[in-house]
Formats: sequence, structure tokens, C-alpha cells
Amino acid sequence: MASSMLYGGQHLTLTPKGLGFNGSDLHGKNLLKMNLVGRNCNFRSKTLVVPKCSVSVPRPASQPRFIQHKKEAFWFYRFLSIVYDHVINPGHWTEDMRDDALEPADLNSRDSIVVDVGGGTGFTTLGIVKHVDAKNVTILDQSPHQLAKAKEKEPLKECKIIEGDAEDLPFKTDYADRYVSAGSIEYWPDPQRGIKEAYRVLKMGGKACLIGPVYPTFWLSRFFADMWMLFPKEEEYMEWFEKAGFKDVEIKRIGPKWYRGVRRHGLIMGCSVTGVKPTSGDSPLQLGPKVEDIETPVNPFVFLLRFLLGASAGVYYVLVPVYMWIKDQIVPKGQPI
Ligand SMILES: C[S@@+](CC[C@H](N)C(=O)[O-])C[C@H]1O[C@@H](n2cnc3c(N)ncnc32)[C@H](O)[C@@H]1O
Repeated sequence: MASSMLYGGQHLTLTPKGLGFNGSDLHGKNLLKMNLVGRNCNFRSKTLVVPKCSVSVPRPASQPRFIQHKKEAFWFYRFLSIVYDHVINPGHWTEDMRDDALEPADLNSRDSIVVDVGGGTGFTTLGIVKHVDAKNVTILDQSPHQLAKAKEKEPLKECKIIEGDAEDLPFKTDYADRYVSAGSIEYWPDPQRGIKEAYRVLKMGGKACLIGPVYPTFWLSRFFADMWMLFPKEEEYMEWFEKAGFKDVEIKRIGPKWYRGVRRHGLIMGCSVTGVKPTSGDSPLQLGPKVEDIETPVNPFVFLLRFLLGASAGVYYVLVPVYMWIKDQIVPKGQPI
């Protein structure tokens, strides 16, 4: 597997076959080639042939992603926020992973203006305020329940904390030096729109750092991932960034230590994607109206069914890190797990 080789820090070329989304003919013909420079799992895009079609497509029937809707995500976090910091982060998003993922964001000035989009309980913001004065940092999230947890954290007391939608940010164009979003894209109905917004709100020369899941290759993990939410492929992130207008787009692979580089089950926090805004103003990408709005009424029965199916699928991903941790304890060090 390319992933495990990459952890060995080798040079390799990744040529994905069959990207598997509707309306696309991405089956190896529209080649996307990344020559991966594997130093410390960090690779640069050398060659990127962007497919003609958009990867920002509706969910195909085989990948219903029941929680990749704003209302479902809202209710998902209504409950999850109670235990989020204690149950989700230790399995999927540890402090050392966070620091590793934020490193390409170049948070090199305490005066930088930073927005943390989908900032939730402020776990990633705690990593940001190590490098940037809290008064310069805004945490935005659509969930007041998640934000309530962020408000309780002492190091975040001076941050601005606001409710809002990642796809329609309440910041003026050319506002921030850094855009950070960790573990939120998987809930955005239209990820390309969210990344276009990241571009818009950054100043010229500003940098976006988007941390998110990666798609599993193991069939059972893929099934539950597809039921739950969006697990993009690495090439999709690259395409979204390039289409939005970002330059110097790079991906750094991350993962919990005890996975020993295993990526076949997918990862909820699997990569940190960065890009630089080359000129001021809005993104060159034109998009139609927003796909979904949290205010739009939905059929309550359909909503409940989607919510229950999606949330149940998510339970699988609470068990995976436990399973990997047990394997890490049992299998002798240095051997693949
Ligand atoms: C997995 S949590 C990540 C929280 C935090 N960034 C962290 O690193 O722990 C995902 C967050 O994204 C938020 N979210 C989902 N969809 C959103 C949207 N469209 N706009 C803003 N926030 C959103 C959720 O409410 C949730 O707090």
C-alpha cells in the first residue's frame, strides 16, 4: 500500500484508480499524479492534472453519508459535544497529532489573524493559541453546544467565539492571515464551497490549513464510512484546493501513533492540506446557490432515520481505534499490524 510505504519515507508515485463518485469519469484516464516526497510523511504535489468534472457532487446512493447534512450534523453534535473531548479526541485526534497537523500552517506570528472554522470545543484552537495571541483568533462553529465547551476553556477566554456556517463565512474578503479547519469538512454538504470560502477570507499570501479524514480501502470500514459522512480521498482535497485558486497545495499525512501508519480503515484525522492564496479578492471559482441550509424544513421521519443510521455507523469508528490500539499492544514492535 502506498500509505504504509509513505510512512517509511520513500519516494513513490501514487496513481489512483477509479475515484468512485457520480458524474465523474475518473477511472485512471484523467490521471492525477502525485510524486510523493516522503520525508516525515509530508509530500508535495509535483504534477496534478485536474479532472474536467467537479468532485463536489451529490452523494451517490452507494455513499449516502447520512450525517453529511447540516441539520443532522447539528443534532449529532448536540449529543456528541457532551463527551466529545473525552471520547472522540483520545481515539482520533491526539495533542501530538494536532501539533503535527498544524505545523504546515506556519503559525509563526503572535499577531496573525486566525479563523478556526468548525472549531467545536476548541481542541485545535488550543494548539493555535500556543503560537498566536488568543485575541486574534476567532472560533466559528454551527453548533452552540460545541462552542459552549470552548467557552469554558481558560486559554481561549480571549478568542472571539461565533456561530456560523463554514460554507458562508461571516468574515470580509481578505480578512485573515491563516484559515484553519480541523475535522469539520466531513459534515459540509458542499466541501468545494467551504474551501472557496477559505480562499475568500484569507489575505493575499495567507495560508489555509484544512485537516480532515481520508477514505478507507478496507471494505467494511468503507461501508461504515460511506454510511456516516464524507471521507474524501487525498486527490479530492488537492482538486478542491486547486480549483478554489490556492497555490503551493500540499498534503501531510497524519494518524494516531498506535496505528503504525495503517490507513486501510480510513482516518477521521488523516491529513493536513495547505495552500497559499496568491492574490487578493474572491476565489476565481464560480459556484451556484448553496445546496443546503440548516433553516430549510426537512421531513422529520426521514431526518430521524438518516440520523439514526448515520450515528450508528459512526459507532464503528469509535471501535476502530480501540481495535488498532489492542493490535499495537499485541504485535511486536517493528512488525506491520
Ligand atoms: C469533529 S468536530 C471538530 C472540532 C474541532 N475543530 C476539533 O479539532 O476538535 C467537527 C465540528 O464541525 C462543526 N461543523 C459541522 N458542519 C459545520 C458547518 N457547516 N459550519 C460550521 N461548523 C460545522 C461541528 O459542529 C463540529 O463542532
